[in-house]
Amino acid sequence: MEQETAAALAALAERCRGCTACPLCRGRRQAVFGVGNPAARLLFVGEGPGEQEDRRGEPFVGPAGELLNLYLKAVGLRREECYIANIVKCRPPGNRDPLPEEQEACLPFLREQVRLIRPKIIVCLGRVAACRLIRPDFRVTREHGQFVEKKGTLMMGTFHPAALLRGPQQKPAALEDFMALRDRLLALPE
Ligand code: URA
Repeated sequence: MEQETAAALAALAERCRGCTACPLCRGRRQAVFGVGNPAARLLFVGEGPGEQEDRRGEPFVGPAGELLNLYLKAVGLRREECYIANIVKCRPPGNRDPLPEEQEACLPFLREQVRLIRPKIIVCLGRVAACRLIRPDFRVTREHGQFVEKKGTLMMGTFHPAALLRGPQQKPAALEDFMALRDRLLALPE
């Protein structure tokens, strides 16, 4: 089953690499499809690749990714046991937020990733992902760390690691969110 999922994800990634559904394809070095365990119970969703990700073809490998790794480590999670993806798979110019129409054009890839991986918990990293996946008026500062169930999947929004690098005063609150996440994962039935 896991092998079938991995094969389906690989085929989807191949399609993603050739995608021209929105203008972001014109500025990319490569599409950044997502990485991780095809059987992951936990899916992280960011907003879109930055410079490093565009170079290396993997999400969250720049400074924001290093901070994400630290949070994972702090609560005893390993990057390899999660799956990590973004709302848009191609780098928005100058790291601007992806436009609504770019998000819309790219969402079929994320929807298919979710359908194949079937995570138990989806964590939205930052406003763009939380507003797109949880609620359009989601406020990270007010609602971070709260779990809501949507179609049988637990969803939570927390601070984007890049925002934490700019505003480190929120780091303790983010750590609490990751601790709550670990507790939820431990409480999941096998
Ligand atoms: N920021 C994101 O939202 N995603 C990445 O992959 C890297 C930085």
